[in-house]
Amino acid sequence: MTPAGSLLVAQDLHKAYGSTPALDGASFSVHPGEVVAVMGPSGSGKSTLLHCLAGIVTPDKGTISYAGREISSMSDAERSALRRGDFGFVFQFGQLVPELTCLENVALPLRLNGTRRKAAEHTARQGLERLEVDGIAGRRPGEVSGGQGQRVAVARALAGSPKVIFADEPTGALDSLNGERVMELLTESARSANTAVVLVTHEARVAAYSDRDVVVRDGRARDLEYVV
Ligand SMILES: Nc1ncnc2c1ncn2[C@@H]1O[C@H](COP(=O)(O)OP(=O)(O)O)[C@@H](O)[C@H]1O
Ligand SMILES: [Mg+2]
Repeated sequence: MTPAGSLLVAQDLHKAYGSTPALDGASFSVHPGEVVAVMGPSGSGKSTLLHCLAGIVTPDKGTISYAGREISSMSDAERSALRRGDFGFVFQFGQLVPELTCLENVALPLRLNGTRRKAAEHTARQGLERLEVDGIAGRRPGEVSGGQGQRVAVARALAGSPKVIFADEPTGALDSLNGERVMELLTESARSANTAVVLVTHEARVAAYSDRDVVVRDGRARDLEYVV
């Protein structure tokens, strides 16, 4: 059964890398504006689940639908348009473009969607202000701290007003103070924009910012209340 009102729904996902099963019957759903933490030990399949949900990895079996459309039935072009237009991404290490300034990095997804430079940079500056890092707009990623870089990465993920943000261990490389502030800013911004967040983490204190927790064990995802 598809949970009513869900934006993104995955059912019975299976994915193996050679003989290593990464997902073994995982199901998942997220509502618009909902922050869901995907928890579980290292190697349990969290990143694989996130990559499948985001249309980056194709599962061997199972279905994923986004806004009522089956992702596997889309063409590659439709899938990449979906990733560019409706999805935002934050990874453990910001993966900012080193040659661009922080402002240009945040403006980049907008530029790729055809927004003119001035408008894109205006929106990017507002994003940097919201993430409290407008002071480093003109610096390159190599010239800022890890915490500042992750804030820039969050601003970039939010810049195109996505419907879903996928965050894979977004605070994994930060100290706890910076990690908590990044989580606060990410979840506050997402909630105010009604953006759903799929947050992969193995840290319980990061999951404290979620509306709901899902635990992945051996490639299977369950709502936390069912596994305790
Ligand atoms: N690209 C890959 N090639 C081979 N094995 C992989 C690949 N990605 C993940 N795996 C394997 O799949 C399993 C699940 O990995 P992953 O989804 O990264 O887990 P997690 O994010 O929970 O640490 C692990 O056994 C991992 O080694
Ligand atoms: Mg992972």
